[in-house]
Amino acid sequence: MSKTRTSQAKPSGRLLYAQSGGVTAVINATAAGVIEAARAKGVPVYAAHNGILGALREELIDTGKETKAAIAALRHTPGGAFGSCRYKLKSLDANRAEYERLIDVFRAHDIRWFLYNGGNDSADTALKISQLGKAMNYDIRCIGVPKTVDNDLAVTDCCPGFGSVAKYTAVSTLEASLDVASMADTSTKVFILEVMGRHAGWIAAAAGLAGEGADAPPHIILFPERPFDEAAFLAKVKATVERVGWCTVVASEGLLNAEGQFLAEAGTRDAFGHSQLGGVAPVLAALVKEKLGYKYHWALPDYLQRSARHLASKTDAEQAYAVGKAAVDFAMAGMNAVMPVIVRTSDAPYRWKIEAAPLSKIANREKKMPASFLTRDGFGITTAARRYLGPLIQGEAPPPYGKNGLPQYATLKNSMVARKLEPFAR
Ligand code: F6P
Repeated sequence: MSKTRTSQAKPSGRLLYAQSGGVTAVINATAAGVIEAARAKGVPVYAAHNGILGALREELIDTGKETKAAIAALRHTPGGAFGSCRYKLKSLDANRAEYERLIDVFRAHDIRWFLYNGGNDSADTALKISQLGKAMNYDIRCIGVPKTVDNDLAVTDCCPGFGSVAKYTAVSTLEASLDVASMADTSTKVFILEVMGRHAGWIAAAAGLAGEGADAPPHIILFPERPFDEAAFLAKVKATVERVGWCTVVASEGLLNAEGQFLAEAGTRDAFGHSQLGGVAPVLAALVKEKLGYKYHWALPDYLQRSARHLASKTDAEQAYAVGKAAVDFAMAGMNAVMPVIVRTSDAPYRWKIEAAPLSKIANREKKMPASFLTRDGFGITTAARRYLGPLIQGEAPPPYGKNGLPQYATLKNSMVARKLEPFAR
């Protein structure tokens, strides 16, 4: 933990909050935690439009114009209320102009605290900004705030956003399996669900919570941590269909072949250099049809899984709010270059607390599934994995529904702050 300013004097200046990377069902709960905690301390909050890009472009939203009720409604509203982005800052040496621009924007609007809400790439951006104060002689504190459905951030026990996608995945696996089972005799025998998780199989693992025992779905889980073994996969599908009558497979989008290549790569890359994934389910389905002849269905929930606020985990929603609030507490305590992380103190009953961890231990690192969480054949999850995953999907926190039968999500004014600088030409 790095702590460089501990003065208890009344905070002066503004706090800038920004959302980054792929959004989640509960990232706005974190925003609510930040804004409500800052309001309670009398600290005005601006939000950057579209993450760090909003800071560079001086596109700042005055959250002070939002009502208390609108901010409270963020707790149950999916998506990123202020806009998010995938954008990686280069090093100070490689692009000093960008950092100078950030400091100009911070100075022009008296921004003294910057809270960046994202995953491991965003923690890298937060770390770089946390080092700016010294390098550019401007007093700015930066706190990274955790978020990612992929659950692959280092240090923290889990990542806000994951518990909800985990619940959606486990519930969907269970429900679709009931459907498949009911018609397998004369119709579909194999159902394949593809889930997110670029390099780590946490979301795929969560599907395993749908059932326990050899005959319960999902019968096969395919993780990015284990290279795809076609022969073993087909043998297990066949044995399951012959024994159970049908087979549910859950595959991670990040599934790799023996050569370490993605089975399904769309051919495009994002600003971080990550391949766009999606489409492993149809590849597997074609294989099943060609080699085993079974009728199949496959599903790719894609953004449905990470935006499914109606099926959010209450535990996840609470943790998302808590990290936002803690980030404000840390910032006001003078901390810099840290992230509030979730520390598990007990599995059953599930207990957790929040602590500060250095961003340098989180930025650019990826936490994969430990080997002890995968069964020996690599197609399922162990008791240890169930012990870890189970608490994260506990509880329901449905949004309020309106007379039209739809959830009542927050609608913000997103009132832009008047610009004080010339546009930034990159
Ligand atoms: O943020 C994580 C994630 O949801 C991954 O699981 C997925 O591969 C990726 O984002 C999709 O990113 P994008 O929406 O930018 O295509």
